[in-house]
Amino acid sequence: MRQAASRILMLVFIFCLVFSLHYKVRAQSASKPGVADHSWWQHAVFYEIYPRSFADSNNDGVGDLKGITSKLDYLKDLGVDAIWISPCFPSPQIDFGYDVSDYENIDPMYGTLADFDNLAAEARKRGIHIILDFVVNHTSDQHQWFLDSKSSRTSEHRDWYIWRDGKSTGRPPNNWISDFGGSAWQFDPTTNQYYYHYFYPQQPDLNWRNPAVKDAMFDVTRWWYKHGVSGFRLDAVDTLFEDPNLTDNPVLPGKNAFGDPKEANRYNTKLPELHETLRGLRKVADEYNAVLIGETWTADIAELNLYYGQGNNELQLPMDFLFTTVNKLSPADFRKQIAAVDSASGWPTFVISNHDIVRSYDRYGDGQHNDQIAKLMAGLYLTLRGTPIMYYGEEIGMKTTPPTRKEDVKDPIGRTGWPKEKGRDGERTPMQWDETSNAGFSTAKPWLPVPPTAQTHNVADELKDPDSVLSFYKKVLKLRHTNKALLDGSYTALNQNDQNVLSYLRVSKDQAVLVALNMSGAQQKVNFDLSARGFSSAKSLVATGKSEAKGNVVTLEPYGVFIGQLSK
Ligand code: NOJ
Repeated sequence: MRQAASRILMLVFIFCLVFSLHYKVRAQSASKPGVADHSWWQHAVFYEIYPRSFADSNNDGVGDLKGITSKLDYLKDLGVDAIWISPCFPSPQIDFGYDVSDYENIDPMYGTLADFDNLAAEARKRGIHIILDFVVNHTSDQHQWFLDSKSSRTSEHRDWYIWRDGKSTGRPPNNWISDFGGSAWQFDPTTNQYYYHYFYPQQPDLNWRNPAVKDAMFDVTRWWYKHGVSGFRLDAVDTLFEDPNLTDNPVLPGKNAFGDPKEANRYNTKLPELHETLRGLRKVADEYNAVLIGETWTADIAELNLYYGQGNNELQLPMDFLFTTVNKLSPADFRKQIAAVDSASGWPTFVISNHDIVRSYDRYGDGQHNDQIAKLMAGLYLTLRGTPIMYYGEEIGMKTTPPTRKEDVKDPIGRTGWPKEKGRDGERTPMQWDETSNAGFSTAKPWLPVPPTAQTHNVADELKDPDSVLSFYKKVLKLRHTNKALLDGSYTALNQNDQNVLSYLRVSKDQAVLVALNMSGAQQKVNFDLSARGFSSAKSLVATGKSEAKGNVVTLEPYGVFIGQLSK
């Protein structure tokens, strides 16, 4: 009897062991497919799409989801593994979608939920992940939650936003300034209180201290995961919490572009409480093998580390915007920033352009060698250890084209801040698909004008030209997807005193790659004797123009790129 019982126990034990091992292996392969022990988002190349400006399928002058679906083959061919779509939810479009009035639907301007599901299905067929932009800090003032909140002091959603009495008649509760100009407090006569808005008054801040807000927002992420989304880019996470005592921010000397006194946002940004929220969002994300990308404006790597969380339990990909503050082609400055982020506690995330900042083509371009410099930048951020997030149009060398007259400005901050702050229209112009009128974006007049450079920089022409910026991006991206050193290898800076050439090694177990980037307008010859590290001379994998290696010497044309295979 006893023996039979112990046999049964043994069998149960073996069954449990086999089952748990099987489950563990499945769970691991779900989160770490393919190469080494990295997760899918560490090997993926991300691509930001500003949906208003990508492709217009119904020819109303504004891009849409069907337009994006029609370009999936282009994206696949380019080497994109995940698209981050800037907000496409119902919205009054005051901040072009960053003012959401319903988190669980699609704005009719972009299509329907069925269009989204179709986009997700078509993307999945091609192995492309979809990342949505989750506007976590605020809603639109037209969201049902806010409409109810403002209706009375006792309404169900009153405490979903931040309402306070003024200091005295006509005086807001404290000195906090909105990032988009003016006081961050808006008086509402219906209930005689002020509500808080870090951005426009039409973007009231949610009160994340209220558990009901947290539950509702977490449920939004679950809802989209069930629609096939692979993660979120979290908008403006720095601003989630505010000091409940509403302590005045320290005032700094000078005025900002809107004429407001400058302030240190000590009491309304980067409060420690936000990390608990991020840990919660991450827990939900982990249930779906999803990724969280953060819009994280950090002052240094110590701050960036906070966003990865202890033991990497917050954001997998907080963007390192400090990289975008290196605003000149300076090997020393890039070296410093790369070393800093390479030593961070999580996986690096590289961005060189997005819908809020001047395109990299203009930030680094000297007006004469912009195409070479665009290739140089691709050679840099697509070969570093980390995940790159591209911005639409960067791969064809799109130029920032800001409005020249105030009356043409669409972005409200450009109208309030003109002429010091011209707004962000310049980096949001329609994607340049071909040379036809409206650059193949739409047959109707686009919501923003197509830049004249569409004649020289467009997908159709650049696909035919083996020397184009686009062809170079494709080559580097192809290499990045297949070369283990570029996917997984360590980063080691070389020739750290070279003032013209930025160079480094990427070394994995089986492969090693040398990257040399000439950041100067003159030809450079660099001696790489890597024998002490156990490598012989490099064999070209991808290079621009006449850049080449002969023995230990790499010759780089002005702004040239050389990426070479090293063997032992
Ligand atoms: C950051 C977004 O990138 C920007 O475009 C937007 O205006 C603000 N957050 C407010 O949501």
